Amino acid sequence: MDHQTVADAYRRLSKQYDRFFGRVFEPGRRLAVDKMGCRAGDRVLEVGVGTGLSLTHYPEGVHVTGIDVSPHMLDVARARLNGQADRVELALMDAQALEYPDDAFDKVVAMYVASVVPEPQRMIAEMKRVCRPGGELFIVNHFSRDKGAMAALEKLVSPVSKFVGFRSLFPLQSFLDASDLDVIETVPVNLFGYWTLIRARNP
Ligand SMILES: C[S@@+](CC[C@H](N)C(=O)[O-])C[C@H]1O[C@@H](n2cnc3c(N)ncnc32)[C@H](O)[C@@H]1O
Repeated sequence: MDHQTVADAYRRLSKQYDRFFGRVFEPGRRLAVDKMGCRAGDRVLEVGVGTGLSLTHYPEGVHVTGIDVSPHMLDVARARLNGQADRVELALMDAQALEYPDDAFDKVVAMYVASVVPEPQRMIAEMKRVCRPGGELFIVNHFSRDKGAMAALEKLVSPVSKFVGFRSLFPLQSFLDASDLDVIETVPVNLFGYWTLIRARNP
């Protein structure tokens, strides 16, 4: 999956995104923000913020920065923000090459992004870099199964999944091994627990 394929997929999807993926992904978004336990003054970075569906979940006083590689998704997020722009900043940026200094955030989160970016490990390295030592990283994503009907389906759709902007074959254990994360917990979320929330401490 390359940058252009992702940009094209989300340009096509941006206007309909909330209708298709708003409610179905909502429990994962809410749980992630809940687990962050944000306090006033915290600096949060959301990579792949998309249409900004999670932005209203953060408590007052938290400064949230959302970045995304799709200008079309960010346009929808900007329209949603109407009136809250003072505590949220949005920027067009690649999660694999963040334009922020080291240790700039207390918490960094990626919801439904890891299987979308061309190089997930570059994104994770950047999330760790911009998160302060002792801060926390949160990843919510679908991870593929090893066996059973879902595993067969994931294999079947794999050749076409990139055209709708994601990678269907994305096993959790390989992702964790490659990411070298100090995992605090993994929690199944959303329908049938088919997605996973990973909470990790930044060393
Ligand atoms: C499935 S959507 C998730 C959006 C949002 N986080 C949510 O909870 O609905 C994936 C998002 O990741 C963005 N994305 C894909 N590759 C990216 C990259 N390299 N850097 C930043 N954002 C990226 C897409 O543009 C899209 O908005």
